[in-house]
Amino acid sequence: MDLDLRDRTCVVTGGSSGIGLATARLLLGEGARVAIVGRDEARLARAARELLGSGDAEESVGARGEVEGEARGRLATIALDVSGAEAGARLLARVEERLGPLWGLVNSAGTSKVVPSEELTEAEWRDQWELNVIAPQALMDAFAPAMEAAGGGSIVNVASSAGRQPSARNAAYAVAKRGQLALTLLYANRLASHGVRVNAVAPGPTATPLWLEPGGMLEGTARELGRGEAEALTQVEASLPLGRLATPEEVATVIVTLLSPLSSRTGATSPVDGGHVKEVFP
Ligand SMILES: NC(=O)c1ccc[n+]([C@@H]2O[C@H](COP(=O)([O-])OP(=O)(O)OC[C@H]3O[C@@H](n4cnc5c(N)ncnc54)[C@H](OP(=O)(O)O)[C@@H]3O)[C@@H](O)[C@H]2O)c1
Repeated sequence: MDLDLRDRTCVVTGGSSGIGLATARLLLGEGARVAIVGRDEARLARAARELLGSGDAEESVGARGEVEGEARGRLATIALDVSGAEAGARLLARVEERLGPLWGLVNSAGTSKVVPSEELTEAEWRDQWELNVIAPQALMDAFAPAMEAAGGGSIVNVASSAGRQPSARNAAYAVAKRGQLALTLLYANRLASHGVRVNAVAPGPTATPLWLEPGGMLEGTARELGRGEAEALTQVEASLPLGRLATPEEVATVIVTLLSPLSSRTGATSPVDGGHVKEVFP
């Protein structure tokens, strides 16, 4: 199926890893122009090399993620903290200059860990709110007028099952993701008449570095359960109706479908959680 994303410019925050990286890969496969955003230049460079894959001599990626050669017009890496001052305006200027008028925005930048509520610091509460509510709001404010001027657009906020059914395993994260879902609804209503759709996806536990890397959710879960990581993973998977973590590609497929101009969805939250959040209780 042709999703009509060819030559449409899309920005993916958190595009250097996990769900964002899988989204960037699918978008490039659809012929879109893609800017991936993260803070760490080396991580962006690794992601860009992985995305270009072919090792084509005409394309190269520098140590700071600079994409050269034929791929320059298709892929850009932008090192930026989305929580920083004026992040939206700075990002928009760089993307438009490099890849042309904007169509899509995926707010996937995020981070989480397992922290008991009584141990959460004020800084952790603030950081989660900044990253999941203030930053997407600022990016939507900056990007929506440019999308409207270019004929319309589509925004996808990567929320979480923790925002649908708040989890006490990281209360600051759950509250901020709940806020991100409310933000999505408000902006969907506000921007619909401007030709810009706004939706959210709500993944459950997904096999990305956020879960699987040292210091990630799995390590915290194992500590919480007093078990080894392999055993903790088995227990988490057993608690999910589908019996396994989602893959980042499964989440990305839903995101890319929402980005497509073939969609008329707006103001919707799409769960991608293997049945984790129960709508019907036994
Ligand atoms: N994996 C899951 O189980 C799961 C479940 C539900 C929801 N989610 C949500 O899905 C989104 C993506 O998570 P993931 O699992 O793909 O995580 P991941 O693999 O750890 O990737 C996170 C990405 O966000 C970037 N990032 C973090 N803070 C940033 C900041 N301040 N400014 C710019 N970029 C930033 C990271 O790059 P740098 O560190 O280099 O900045 C990285 O590219 C997050 O919003 C997360 O809350 C994940």
